[in-house]
Amino acid sequence: MKNKTYDITFTVNNKLEKMTVEARTTVLSLLRDQLGLTGTKEGCSNGNCGACTVNIDGYTIDSCCVFGVEIEGSTIETIENFSSDAKNLHPIQESFLRNGGLQCGICTPGFILSTQHLLKNIPDPTEDEIRLWLAGNLCRCTGYDKIILSVQDIISSESS
Ligand code: FES
Ligand code: FES
Repeated sequence: MKNKTYDITFTVNNKLEKMTVEARTTVLSLLRDQLGLTGTKEGCSNGNCGACTVNIDGYTIDSCCVFGVEIEGSTIETIENFSSDAKNLHPIQESFLRNGGLQCGICTPGFILSTQHLLKNIPDPTEDEIRLWLAGNLCRCTGYDKIILSVQDIISSESS
């Protein structure tokens, strides 16, 4: 039997997209496999690691846990909306690079989306607030301290 499909329309990184998806297609899958936006990473596939974090309608969401049929009319931002120009990085990317906030990089797109969300809501967070807001993103490489430092350095760079 053929799987039922659904037509959906949404915006990704300021571009309107229309596509047909099966009910079981996750947002992570449609971003990576149908739109080629492979900056969003797949780690655990079950909502534990945050590697697949994207911004949907102003909230950071694990895209492996949302189905495509749920994002009809939504606005999505992925890491591709930041910068791919090494000489002109977004300030959050620049700070992670400058402070060693990444090693293998699998977790980094998710951390950058979560950091952006944090700073939009709390422009001058304490260390405890940074750790709390980034708690949904796991990193096996850095030990977290350099990630925290990266976020703190964005704040001090913007206030200087
Ligand atoms: S891949 Fe989505 S939370 Fe881990
Ligand atoms: S830099 Fe490797 S998992 Fe975070």
